[in-house]
Amino acid sequence: MSEIAGNSPTSPGRPPRLSHEQLAAAQVETLAAPLRSYGLAARALFATLDAVYGKPRTLSKFKVLELVARVPYQAWEQAAYIAITHVHERTRLARRIHDRIAQSRAEQDNEQWHLLILDELIARSGTREGRLRYFWVPQAIAFAYCQLS
Ligand SMILES: [Fe+2]
Repeated sequence: MSEIAGNSPTSPGRPPRLSHEQLAAAQVETLAAPLRSYGLAARALFATLDAVYGKPRTLSKFKVLELVARVPYQAWEQAAYIAITHVHERTRLARRIHDRIAQSRAEQDNEQWHLLILDELIARSGTREGRLRYFWVPQAIAFAYCQLS
């Protein structure tokens, strides 16, 4: 998560709000960052999305990506809670795991906002999405990605 996004005021039930200057600074930060090299799982996910939804960048395709993007954070959070159950007496380690949980939850919430915003944009645009391709297939991809994570 970027410094800029981390400084944004948030309130429960509402997405973080950035000023125009903060948005512009975040975009500059993003564009200046080195490109990431994706792991095998991410590349497989992107290839699957291209195969199922085509190459064009559509809101509906990104919605599926955002749905799946939350899953690793959920899986890591769950595993981290189990880890704390086992190591809680090692307080410094338990505290470090707790800090990772908090970070993971923030990332998960960020992806969740992306999903909710895309859902609203798609609904507003009047785009009709087939139930199989935009509900059941994403559920299956998310389940598989959760098992992998
Ligand atoms: Fe996202």
